[in-house]
Amino acid sequence: MDAIPFSGIRKVFERAKTLEREGRPVIFLETGRPDFDTPAHIKEAAKQALDAGDVHYTSNFGTPALRGAIAGKLQRENGVAYDPDGEILVTVGAAEAIFLAYLAFVNPGDEVLYPEPTWVNYAAVARLAGAIPVPVPLRESNGYQIDLEDVGRRITPRTRVLVVVSPNNPTGTVQSPEVLRNLADLAIRHNLLVISDEIYERIVYDDQTHLSLASCAGMRERTITINGFSKAYSMTGWRLGYAAAPQPFIQAMNRVHQYNVACASAFGQAGAVAALTGPQDCVTAMVAEFKRRRDMVVPAINDIPRLSCLNPGGAFYAWVNIGRMGIGSEEFSMRLLESAHVSSVPGTVFGESGQGYVRFSYANSYERLEEAMRRLSRFCE
Ligand SMILES: Cc1ncc(COP(=O)(O)O)c(C=O)c1O
Repeated sequence: MDAIPFSGIRKVFERAKTLEREGRPVIFLETGRPDFDTPAHIKEAAKQALDAGDVHYTSNFGTPALRGAIAGKLQRENGVAYDPDGEILVTVGAAEAIFLAYLAFVNPGDEVLYPEPTWVNYAAVARLAGAIPVPVPLRESNGYQIDLEDVGRRITPRTRVLVVVSPNNPTGTVQSPEVLRNLADLAIRHNLLVISDEIYERIVYDDQTHLSLASCAGMRERTITINGFSKAYSMTGWRLGYAAAPQPFIQAMNRVHQYNVACASAFGQAGAVAALTGPQDCVTAMVAEFKRRRDMVVPAINDIPRLSCLNPGGAFYAWVNIGRMGIGSEEFSMRLLESAHVSSVPGTVFGESGQGYVRFSYANSYERLEEAMRRLSRFCE
């Protein structure tokens, strides 16, 4: 257990909560969840399911209705066909799907390649499974696009899995179709299993396009696509996600899943069906609001001497270079919280290459974000 750290995000959050309880006007920008309510028609579908007595275990794989809706979505939006009977597994959040994929497919000592910085679970859960997480650093100088040579240099006979997260948390980077196609070729050449985390796929801005790795030639048979409802539909507390992959992969993951949680909540799954099959204007409106905030926050940060931030193409995070402030990420975050009452996440939480960076989430109201930017500016002065 000594190899498994507590998530550094919780540490900031707990301190921020304490300050708030003491009466300080804390603005919470460390959070990784949309600040909107779940759209009404989704909640309504879950309520109706509850009232109809939908309170029992479902199939381990998820309800047929939800698996069918997921298969329809993957075909329509991602251009990949999956059999809802055996190639889709409904999980308790995308987080569970990641856990299952690692437990099912890595042996102790296997190496897992993952882009760094990225969401904390990819390294921590690899360690839980006895594997060795091998970070591939993402560089600001090439817009945090995955560098093929950096990946190639780290492939060894023990490399089993390649993780790709696009759009990425915390950098907000959408990997270009060219990078993804080259990564696909590399994965095929080295016979790697690929975990493609596409949970932020709907939250992309401007002319960015999301490409599903499984839709690239030769990739469907080696890719586990992981997605969920938390980000696109603001359903983090519902704990619903899914994995799509060829049947032998899903069967293996289900072996772990059946002894882990058995299934996701029955009435929650009814809500998720409504999310996928109902009107999508709620997603469009949420993304438009995220974009409005990004277009205020990122220039405001770049106006502050000694801070800089690339314009993120997706997700809802600003990944800010604080290197010229002359202090480390943790000190920056803690001092900003203590003296300006703005919470952020030190970049080091996402791996060593996050030193010199902090993450701000703009999943907060426009007005509070404006106030946070004023405080950040004064703090840096
Ligand atoms: C890249 C990424 N994948 C997965 C998740 C987890 O999503 P879920 O709420 O579906 O478990 C997160 C949450 O922040 C994330 O950033």
